[in-house]
This record gives sequence, C-alpha cells and structure tokens, in this order.
Amino acid sequence: MASADKKIDTTGVLGWVDQRFPLTSTWKAHLSEYYAPKNFNFFYFFGALATLVLVLQIVTGIFLTMHYKPDSAKAFESVEYIMRDVPWGWLVRYMHSTGASAFFVVIYLHMFRGLIYGSYRKPRELIWIFGCLIFLVLMAEAFFGYLLPWGQMSYWGAQVIVNLFSAIPFIGPELSLWIRGDYVVGDATLNRFFAFHVIAIPLVLLGLVAAHIVALHEVGSNNPDGVEIKAKKNADGIPLDGIPFHPYYTVHDIMGVSVFLLVFSAVIFFAPEMGGYFLEYNNFVPADPLKTPAHIAPVWYFTPYYSILRAITSDFMLWGLTPFLLIFLAVVWMSRGTRSLSKLIATLAVGAMLVGFLVLDAKFWGVVAMGASVMIFFAMPWIDNSEVKSIRYRPGWHKYVYAAFVIVFLVLGYTGVQPPSPVGQIISQVGTLLYFGFFLFMPWWSAMGEFKPVPDRVTFAAH
Ligand code: HEM
Repeated sequence: MASADKKIDTTGVLGWVDQRFPLTSTWKAHLSEYYAPKNFNFFYFFGALATLVLVLQIVTGIFLTMHYKPDSAKAFESVEYIMRDVPWGWLVRYMHSTGASAFFVVIYLHMFRGLIYGSYRKPRELIWIFGCLIFLVLMAEAFFGYLLPWGQMSYWGAQVIVNLFSAIPFIGPELSLWIRGDYVVGDATLNRFFAFHVIAIPLVLLGLVAAHIVALHEVGSNNPDGVEIKAKKNADGIPLDGIPFHPYYTVHDIMGVSVFLLVFSAVIFFAPEMGGYFLEYNNFVPADPLKTPAHIAPVWYFTPYYSILRAITSDFMLWGLTPFLLIFLAVVWMSRGTRSLSKLIATLAVGAMLVGFLVLDAKFWGVVAMGASVMIFFAMPWIDNSEVKSIRYRPGWHKYVYAAFVIVFLVLGYTGVQPPSPVGQIISQVGTLLYFGFFLFMPWWSAMGEFKPVPDRVTFAAH
C-alpha cells in the first residue's frame, strides 16, 4: 500500500519530469498518500469551498480589471458599462460581488468548525494563526474592493473607516491623510486602493493560503472527534483511521462544490443584491463628496465589528467596560491556577486601560475594541483550557455557550446594519460585553464541568 518507499519510475514523459521536478512525489504527499481522518463531516467542506471561491474571485477579478477604469471620473460609469455593454459582463460582476459575500459565509463556517472541534489546539496552532492572518487580509481585500465601484456607499464607507485612524493619539490625523493621499477620499485614494485590491493583497492572500495548507499537511487534519489519527498506525505507518485524500475526499468535495454552486448560482441569477445586503442600494448612486447619505453601514460581514465600534460611548465606558474589566481582574486574582506573572500583566493592562479611559475619548476606545474583537481570535490556542478538543466530549452546557456566542455575533451583525437608535445601542453594548466575555473568561469556563471520555479511535459508521 504505502508506495513512499517504492522507486519512482524514470521512464516516459512523467519519468523525465520527475527527475527534474517533484511532480509525482508532491501529488503523493499532498493527495494520493495524504491520509485524512475518515470521519470528516459537513463542516469539512468549507476549506475546499474557500479555495474554490478564492480562485473564482481571482479569475472574475482579472476579467473585471480588463474593463474597469480606476479613475474617480470614470469608475462608476465603467462598472455600469460592464453591467450593460460588455458581453457577459453582468455575470462576471455579479459572480465577483456575490463571491465576496460567499467568501465570508464560507470562512465564518470554516472558523466555526475550528472553534467547535478545537482545531486550533496543539499541534495546529500555526494553521490557526495563518488562518487568522488570512481573515485579516481578506477583510482588507474586501474593504479596498468596495471603494472601486465609486458609489455613495463605497465613498462614504471608505471615508468613515479611514477617518477611524485619526482617533489614534498624536499621529492619527496625519496617518489618515497619508492613507487617503488627499484631505478627503479622492482619485489618489481610488488609485492606491485599486493597486492593493488587484495585486498586493491577492499575492499576500495566496502566500498565506499556501502556508496554511503546508502547515496543515505537516501535522495532519483534526476531525469531529478531536482524536489524533497519527497515534494509531498500521505496520506500514499508515494511520488506521486515515483514508487517502485522493480519491476519497476529492470525490466527496465534488458533492460539496456542486451544492455550493447550485446555491451560488441561485443567488447570482435571482437575488444578486440579496435585498441590499450583498450590494447596498446606495451604491447604485454615484459617489457625491457633497452629499453624505443619511445612514452609512458597511456590508453585512463587517457589521458585528462595526456594532462593537459604535457600542463604545463614554457612558458605556463607565457603566459597562469599567465593571467588566474589574470583574475580569478579580477572577484573575482569585483563580489559584493563574501564575503571578499573568496576574501582574493582567493588572497592568487593566490599570492602563482604566487610566486610558480618563485620558482618551470613546472614539479611540471604539477603534481599539473593534480591532480587539478581530485580533482576539489569535489567542484561541492559548486561552482554551478544556481537557478535550472536540465539543462532542465537552460538558453538555458548553454547547449552549457556543450557541450563545453565535447568537451574540448575529445580533451584533444585525444591530450594525441598523441606523443608530437608543435601544440598538444598549443591545450592541450588552452584546459587546458578552462577545468579549466569551473569550476573556474562556481560560476558566472551558475547564469547568464534567468531560466525557474520548475514544481511542474516531467514531465512524459507513454509509
Ligand atoms: C482563503 C481562506 C482559507 C482557505 C482557502 C482555507 C483552506 C483550508 C483547507 C483547504 C483546509 C483543509 C480542509 C478543511 O479542513 O476544511 C483548511 C483547514 C483549516 N483551516 Fe483554513 N482556509 C482559509 C481560512 C481560514 C481561516 C480564516 C481560519 C481560522 C481563523 C482557518 C483555520 C483552519 C484550521 C484550524 C484548519 C484545520 C482544521 C482541521 O483539521 O480540523 N482557515 N483550510
């Protein structure tokens, strides 16, 4: 079975290539002899789907670039030209704009899988870190791309986000001027965003995805049971619960890809704007620097973080964040397992923030909270103290904690789309506390409760 020790055939065209380039050995190492756990489920489709969407975005993006003009006087009409006059231009554009939302749907499900099966834990910390970097870069890619159609939302959305940098003390105003290249979002901004969107960021993204897969293939995939399949091997050194990725998972993934393409096509052909969620209505109006839209909201995939940004007001810093940080500090000090160094660091960090609340305004702390809400994912491998990886063998109530986190994330997403209102503000403030509470108190709650015994082998029933 294991043909790793078999001599490589040196005859024929393939033999000629193999003597000069590791074609067959790469095929074997990453596909036909990459042993993946046999119990992958629904959630394991999303890595392959993310790869598919990445390719779709690059290919459709190349064709859009052939007709798009990165010029503030022509950008909007060049997109209209693509939609009306370029043969199949409407399809390419809708594939790209729907693809952006599909990317985030797929990535959120991919990350959720990682959370529930503990795929970020030892030895997969680096896969997770590369993933978090991909997520950050993907957000930058989507943000830069959104300015390009030069509609009202493109323009004012960019204006709002670039202005956030001006909240940074001392260097802020200069920094946002430097990013924009002008006193307001203008032609210079459009040109540089275009350069980042079409070449700089995609290159970084591709490099990170390659690193993500290499790291994954170095340690091997996790699975819904969180059992390390490499711990039980046969005489040939092949994991007993492993099956070759090709042909088993290539065929399996074709099924996931087919279902995905059906749903994706249905959206493109029947609801490409998705009721204003995928393409906002205001973006069909050309950018007007003299007319601010009544309500500026980012696209749905940014709204949970936008909600957190808007939740931070000076009142909330007093009644919400200050007690929250003090409770966190009390828990750190009261927990017997916490090392004195960690206690010292937590005290200094909380102390600095409380003093900072007096010196710096809510706008600054809003930006900090928004940044922290994304960056906190990097900490996952080190804040989860659960005895087991997978949710399957954790105490039953942990499932409710994860369910509550998902609901909070969705509610924050919803309040972020809505125009500001007093009730919406309270909801987003409570949501912000729950969101950060999930992560900050994880070192304690993840270790609590009655864990179930983890089997030696994965659970799998042939179907
Ligand atoms: C362009 C974006 C991405 C692509 C193309 C991608 C691709 C993949 C692929 C093909 C796999 C193996 C198949 C699978 O397990 O589903 C995988 C696994 C994994 N990815 Fe990603 N990924 C991306 C983004 C992310 C992000 C944003 C995270 C987390 C922050 C992440 C975390 C992981 C983890 C932890 C695994 C291992 C899962 C396991 O073995 O259980 N990935 N990724």
